[in-house]
Amino acid sequence: MTDTLTIERLSVRYDTDKGPLEALRDVSMNVPAGQIVGVVGESGCGKSTLISALLHLLPENGRVSHGAIRLEGDNIVGAPPRRLRDLRGRDMSVVFQDPMTSLNPVLSIGRQMRDIQYRDGGSRTEKDRRSAEMLGRVGLPDPDGKLSFYPHELSGGMRQRVAIAMAAMMQPKLLIADEPTTALDATLEVQIIELLQELQRELGCTILFISHHLGVIAELCERVVVMYAGETVEEGPVADVFLNPAHPYTRKLIECDPGRLKQRAETLPAIAGSLPDLTDRPKGCIFRDRCDFATDACADRPDRYFVDETHWAACHHTDEVRK
Ligand SMILES: Nc1ncnc2c1ncn2[C@@H]1O[C@H](COP(=O)(O)OP(=O)(O)O)[C@@H](O)[C@H]1O
Ligand code: SF4
Ligand SMILES: [Mg+2]
Repeated sequence: MTDTLTIERLSVRYDTDKGPLEALRDVSMNVPAGQIVGVVGESGCGKSTLISALLHLLPENGRVSHGAIRLEGDNIVGAPPRRLRDLRGRDMSVVFQDPMTSLNPVLSIGRQMRDIQYRDGGSRTEKDRRSAEMLGRVGLPDPDGKLSFYPHELSGGMRQRVAIAMAAMMQPKLLIADEPTTALDATLEVQIIELLQELQRELGCTILFISHHLGVIAELCERVVVMYAGETVEEGPVADVFLNPAHPYTRKLIECDPGRLKQRAETLPAIAGSLPDLTDRPKGCIFRDRCDFATDACADRPDRYFVDETHWAACHHTDEVRK
């Protein structure tokens, strides 16, 4: 199976008044073609930084200090400026939490959808036909009529469908969904999840789905990557990771409240202790201060331990954790 995206030991630093803050350290993950992979982690664990690094949109004070981001095998870290337009439009497209981030309030939906087809051939009528077809596919009633609507004339759920239609229309190699359901109520959330599943099935989209909802990830994704304090601590098939976690952090998240895998809770469960200071990362394992399994061995930073071919955790004691 080929990977659409492979991230290898990616580190990102921000310059801050307190010195360099290592927001991502040695982040690694694989996103196989045609799958939906979830990334879960609490606030501040580096999810937004990861997306910015993928899209080459880090702020002025941020930079990739180490590692590779491979899109269908090509390392795009440090891609020349002329590649960036392709990267952000053709290769990867993003659905944000707030659909207004990607919609222009002063242009009609039809105009915006024509604009993103700037490279495709065909007349205006032909482009409008394709737009309406995609709007129909994402479940907008009367898609032809909606082309003349402005974003404010649609409900929040409908706006998110339009944002997804626009992202899918570009036929990106990778569709990134950044907490796309967090601002929606539970019924709309279910509809958006079903829509993403359909897009994956029917169009074969590869989707990186960022969320702090364990339940949504369990339902939607085939694989999951768990992040803690800017590091990837566990990765594997959703069923294996959630039913038999190999990292104490994942285990704690699930133990705290197993119901969260069924109910769609708003936040990750709170676990005792606080995140380490990322400007002064502790030596050894990043989770050591909060870990019930810690031993002297954990003074050395753990590498990835493979539980099986597709499931690993960055922990010295995966066997004990899985007992
Ligand atoms: N522009 C920035 N300058 C300095 N530090 C930042 C900046 N953006 C994010 N950070 C820090 O990087 C870490 C990861 O943040 P972020 O990627 O926003 O996490 P998440 O999206 O998971 O909440 C946090 O400690 C945050 O304070
Ligand atoms: S390496 Fe040690 S401290 Fe870190 S998660 Fe595993 S048991 Fe806990
Ligand atoms: Mg964020």
